[in-house]
Amino acid sequence: MRLTCVVDDNSGVEDPDRSIAKASGGFLSEHGLSLLVETDRGKKVLMDTGSSERAFLHNLDLLGLRPKDLDMVFISHGHYDHLGGLPALLREGVPCYTHPSTFLGRRFIETSGRLREIGPSEGLLALLRDNPPTYDDRPRELVPGVSTTGEVQRSTSFEVPSSFVIERDGHRTPDLIMEEQALCVSTKKGIVVLTGCGHAGIVNILSQVRRRSDRKIAMVAGGFHLWRAAPDMLLRSIDGVKRFNVEKVAPMHCTGFAATKAFSDRFPGFELLGTGCQMEL
Ligand SMILES: [Fe+2]
Ligand SMILES: [Fe+2]
Repeated sequence: MRLTCVVDDNSGVEDPDRSIAKASGGFLSEHGLSLLVETDRGKKVLMDTGSSERAFLHNLDLLGLRPKDLDMVFISHGHYDHLGGLPALLREGVPCYTHPSTFLGRRFIETSGRLREIGPSEGLLALLRDNPPTYDDRPRELVPGVSTTGEVQRSTSFEVPSSFVIERDGHRTPDLIMEEQALCVSTKKGIVVLTGCGHAGIVNILSQVRRRSDRKIAMVAGGFHLWRAAPDMLLRSIDGVKRFNVEKVAPMHCTGFAATKAFSDRFPGFELLGTGCQMEL
């Protein structure tokens, strides 16, 4: 399969020694994530759509693709930085798959004592009413070789989302972002796990994958959400990932610079992926 990073916070590097190709310039990077999986059978499954329709469509165009070329879009969770290009896909009738709670409630993040809304836009919610996604909280095969993890069981004590708030029926409560699911792609070398923001915890996500299959985990790529992690939590996350004997790690998006550096120091199989990067797996 081929993995392409359509949108990420960073631009990544070309590294022929590690078979990472970088499409020639002009890509837009922004806070957000969008990863494209092209299976060996020619199916195109997109996970998430970046923050803005502009960057998403611009980058898709540079890759020689139009929205209707995609077979489906899987939305990992309900934060704006994964939903930017979704309206363009819904307007073209691209089938959407996600968890039943992804678009429920109003979502906020607390920074410096203030709440900032980070959920879907009103325009997107209106489009979703006319183009309802397929909802599923259980593991589901989207196309042969590409499956969702289902809702991730939370078992570690240190991977508990903080700073997030959800408002439902006028009541605000801490948001554990329970809807977040990851994607599992079966390759000849093992399973490739793709995470959106990783709010469920990267160790919890890999445990969920392991519960479903004892195949080797060839790579985990995507957001690990460690940009605000305390040093001890970061080390516990890294030790936890190591226990799965993951061959390659590609922390992206909301992993944050310090955590990305820590992974690069501790994993020989570290890969620096970013917008416009492609890997054959
Ligand atoms: Fe995110
Ligand atoms: Fe998120």
